[in-house]
Amino acid sequence: MKSVTENTSKDERDAKVFALYEQLLEIEQRLIPTGLHVFGRPSSAHEKTDLFKMIASFDRPETGVRALPENLVDEAVREFVRAGTDAAVRLLEQSGLPAENTRTVFGLLETVSTKLQTNNELDSLVRALRGEFIEPGPGADIIQNPDILPTGRNTHAINPYSVPSAAAYARSEVVANSLLERYLSENGRYPEAMALVLWGLDNIKTQGEGVAQALWLLGTRPVRDALNRTTSVEAIPLAQLGRPRIDVVMTVSGIFRDLFSPTVQLLDKAVRLVAQLDEPLESNYVRKHVLQQVEHDACDLDEAAVRVFSNAPGNYGTNVNFMVMDSQWEREETLGDLFVTRKCFAYGRDSKGCAIEGREARVAMDRALARVEATYQNIDTFEIGLTDVDHYFEYLGGVSKAVEKRAQARPAIYLSDTLSRDVKIRTLEETVRLETRAKTLNPKWYEGMLKHGFRGVAEIENHVSNTFGWSATADAVDDWIYSEVANTFLFDETMLERLRDLNPHSAHSLAQRLLEANGRGYWEVEDSVLERLRDISRSLEDQLEGVA
Ligand code: BEZ
Ligand code: MG
Repeated sequence: MKSVTENTSKDERDAKVFALYEQLLEIEQRLIPTGLHVFGRPSSAHEKTDLFKMIASFDRPETGVRALPENLVDEAVREFVRAGTDAAVRLLEQSGLPAENTRTVFGLLETVSTKLQTNNELDSLVRALRGEFIEPGPGADIIQNPDILPTGRNTHAINPYSVPSAAAYARSEVVANSLLERYLSENGRYPEAMALVLWGLDNIKTQGEGVAQALWLLGTRPVRDALNRTTSVEAIPLAQLGRPRIDVVMTVSGIFRDLFSPTVQLLDKAVRLVAQLDEPLESNYVRKHVLQQVEHDACDLDEAAVRVFSNAPGNYGTNVNFMVMDSQWEREETLGDLFVTRKCFAYGRDSKGCAIEGREARVAMDRALARVEATYQNIDTFEIGLTDVDHYFEYLGGVSKAVEKRAQARPAIYLSDTLSRDVKIRTLEETVRLETRAKTLNPKWYEGMLKHGFRGVAEIENHVSNTFGWSATADAVDDWIYSEVANTFLFDETMLERLRDLNPHSAHSLAQRLLEANGRGYWEVEDSVLERLRDISRSLEDQLEGVA
């Protein structure tokens, strides 16, 4: 940041300080896992505090639980953990909050606390191995739905005909609008086409928020039949929508395809419905593109309206993650091409009523991606973020790289954060920075990991490699991130010794990954830094080979 010059007015300075304060708060408010979950071991009181704060921050109208005010959550939850419900209720009374408004939330926290203590994981595992019955429970995020506790149960999925739920559809309007507003504010117009990633487990957790967001972008709403099953869609009139219908290319995971077969049909139906509406082309980008394609490719409407893609039947995943992790690629475009090769199978039903069940449609996918200007994925869990697993970059990164080649321009890449009190849309770059500050470079996070010894170092290395995945697929990682990773984990003598003792394999991989980041042009840094890294890498290699 530039220093505050004399010309900078007081207002500008205040605005800058406030923006900085907001960013710091954002990092502070992330739920930072302080260690891995150890199978069969209940959480400690200390570990539970952050979780309680998050749980107490949400209104739960279905159970009459009111969120605690933002400025009091911290203090009240600490008091609850220290001295119990009555003490916490009394504390809040002193701030003018009546007991009847706050008692229910602590009741919920008590239940959660007890259930976290009852841990049937090992017992259930043994019983499952014996082929015995395991009690089922809902699959969800613990903060969104604390009823997932106790753990160690079977996860029951969801009735796909109930998706999207009324609540998920209502919530998604704000998300879809914020997403479009963000693009509009940066580009001066709406994106004509977007690519969305939809996952199965996520749509179970949220009862179909990702699905509902796609329906909103298209300007459609779900329609239930006499049996209350969502089997159809209708168009929201343009006058009511107040913006154009966005063309949406959906890549659904193999899990989604398997679990949500009626929903796949619903999404395909929504696109085909919109494509046939007699509306001005500047207000209906689906129709605009479909008609363009019919004319240009001399194909029929059915072929030009294919928008739901997944793997071939029986196949899962993009393999982009494996290619990145194994460094088995020379040109970045190979990663996007692999994504399309794995995911170019169309699903839905054509106008004659014939089912399309995983028909290879590479040309249709290439055409659809070539028009995409923004890519997006909904993030809906507190537990897993962009750099925790390699699946976000294999999907969102993979599709973005595929778009880049086909559209001959890098798309804007967005993620939503529907977890906090306000819906927030962030660019990929912003999200990578936030994740890096909240986790990879945060002593609270990495010390938590290091308590797990060998596995903890492997987790740190995984985060760095997953971050690297965002360079490879989307060039979304700032130089300072790699520099700080090197400073924190390898150039600090004490830290290096700890990593060397706990897990020299992962420490060596981490050094190699940083060198690869430089070699592939993702990290510009002085030669002296690289020399130092090579020395460290060599000495770790010697140690692994027993030379040292
Ligand atoms: C899914 O739930 O669809 C999913 C889970 C893990 C990786 C990719 C997709
Ligand atoms: Mg760069």
